[in-house]
Amino acid sequence: DYYAVIMAGGVGSRFWPMSTQKNPKQFHDMLGVGQSLIQRTFERINGLVPSKNILIATNKRYEELVLQQLPKATKNSLLLEPSMRNTAPCILYSALKIYQQNPNAVILVAPSDHWIDDETEFLNNIQTSFDACSKEEILMTLGIQPDCPNTGYGYIQFKNESSEIKKVKSFREKPNLETAKEFLVSGEYLWNAGIFVWSAKGILNAFKEFLPEMINILDDGNNVYNTDFEDDFINNNYGKCENISIDFGIMEQAKNVHVLPVDFGWNDLGTWGSLYNKLEKDEYQNAVVGPQTIFRDANGNMIRTQSGKKVVIQGLQNFIVVEKEDVLLICPKKDEQDIKQIVSDVKNNF
Ligand code: GDD
Ligand code: MG
Repeated sequence: DYYAVIMAGGVGSRFWPMSTQKNPKQFHDMLGVGQSLIQRTFERINGLVPSKNILIATNKRYEELVLQQLPKATKNSLLLEPSMRNTAPCILYSALKIYQQNPNAVILVAPSDHWIDDETEFLNNIQTSFDACSKEEILMTLGIQPDCPNTGYGYIQFKNESSEIKKVKSFREKPNLETAKEFLVSGEYLWNAGIFVWSAKGILNAFKEFLPEMINILDDGNNVYNTDFEDDFINNNYGKCENISIDFGIMEQAKNVHVLPVDFGWNDLGTWGSLYNKLEKDEYQNAVVGPQTIFRDANGNMIRTQSGKKVVIQGLQNFIVVEKEDVLLICPKKDEQDIKQIVSDVKNNF
């Protein structure tokens, strides 16, 4: 059977002030399409996976938000984390829970905050990956052709085989800029899309090998998952897990990683700049989400306003201007990575 886990516990701090810890970006309609990112993600996956098999892993504090936004999700679809421990623990939790429902399950693990242009192609790729993982015990990831030395991604070195799915030689999570440049020039690397497929059994075996302490903590041996005792068990034990991503914890270590190169128009909407790239621009390369904005002698700006206000931008180049009810951010586009730090610096004032 096909299962999916949507990871929705991140806070998206580089999208501040739109994205906040109380209401992170996955719950926003970042592109102005009439649906939030998590709603779009759920619908997309539901094209292949029945809604009862789509689980949402998120922090407890987002329970209400998830249930409000996803009417097809039920309390049973939610994996509620009592603390933030990055992606490895939530993936292990999902694998244990699904394995106890169905030991033959194959699982798609997907972020909640990405944009995908060609959803039909995406589903074809997932179908291919499901088929492969049903036959062989491999860990699969989708690979994107890189076009710049972005240091926010994982890099996948693959064997140049003629088969559609390729063996992975090495996986390197978030290299420094120098290394990323070398990887790009070599032409041997793809970006990790952060979208994974494996069998429940396959990923559990990888945890046994590479993160055995974590499996000791979350596998109680008593089939606690999918029972009335699950919540208590998780509340008492989840916080003991190491805070580590699946990329560092498993993908960099495992020997049976495979990649399917894909081309469905992917954007991980990680920063204001990535949203800017996705949006339509005027003839002066200004992008706007929100009410009317008049530009004069201004280009390359990313403007997002929420109020009914008219906006006039005069003489401004390459800036991010984001207005929320009570906060206004004005920041050069080139400093977009610093927004994470800015948020933590100013948070006591807000
Ligand atoms: N449930 C849950 N719990 N979800 C989480 C948690 C958590 O503690 N932490 C992060 N997430 C969710 C985020 O909401 C996001 O949807 C997804 O997991 C990935 O986390 P990010 O924090 O956005 O990871 P990243 O962008 O730094 O890196 C990952 O994605 C890149 C592609 O976008 C890695 O997989 C990279 O290798 C990859 O290139
Ligand atoms: Mg991300």
